[in-house]
Amino acid sequence: MTKLKIVGICGSLRAKSFNLSALHAAGNLMPEGMSLEIAPLHDLPMYNADLQEKGMPESVQKLRDHMASADGLFISAPEFNWTISAPLKNMIDWVSRFPAGQQPFFQKPVAILSATMGPLGGARVQYDLRRSLSGLGVLDLVKPEIFINNAHTKFDATGKLTDEPTLKILQEQMVAFQDWIVRMKRAYP
Ligand SMILES: Cc1cc2nc3c(=O)[nH]c(=O)nc-3n(C[C@H](O)[C@H](O)[C@H](O)COP(=O)(O)O)c2cc1C
Repeated sequence: MTKLKIVGICGSLRAKSFNLSALHAAGNLMPEGMSLEIAPLHDLPMYNADLQEKGMPESVQKLRDHMASADGLFISAPEFNWTISAPLKNMIDWVSRFPAGQQPFFQKPVAILSATMGPLGGARVQYDLRRSLSGLGVLDLVKPEIFINNAHTKFDATGKLTDEPTLKILQEQMVAFQDWIVRMKRAYP
């Protein structure tokens, strides 16, 4: 079987982002048959319909193409003011403007995690994110859910995820995601 390509998207632009570190950790924990490529959001302009009218910006087109080429998308989401961070929502808004057949979230398997320094680990952002993405037709993996709370206690100074229970559930999520992608490919060939 060919390797499943996962495109990882981090909703934080911070170089030392816990969510970015969690994505890297997930990449290392993926089963043999999966690989992770991270797609940065730094180059996307703020959504503006006037810009869109002139043609999709190159950075948006490039990101869409990368997402569309993936067997699955893996989103790591910080929680900003109880909801989706601006960079992540901005990305969703841009790629949602592609016409049917090109919109990269449609019937795409998606796994989600969130990492925050707060006690809830992003419970609120995850439900807002799932609600928003469901309108775009994603096939989101529901379980296991991963909320990395008190993130500053779970990564070392180099940004490496060191918390054993979190590493274990992240590995379980990647195995479940692999199975989910295979099943969704059969259901939506
Ligand atoms: C504008 C802003 C709003 C925030 N709002 C929340 C919040 O609602 N809930 C929460 O748990 N943490 C909140 N935080 C703290 C983040 O969890 C923390 O900054 C975290 O490290 C961000 O993720 P990152 O490490 O991937 O950048 C907020 C941080 C910022 C900068």
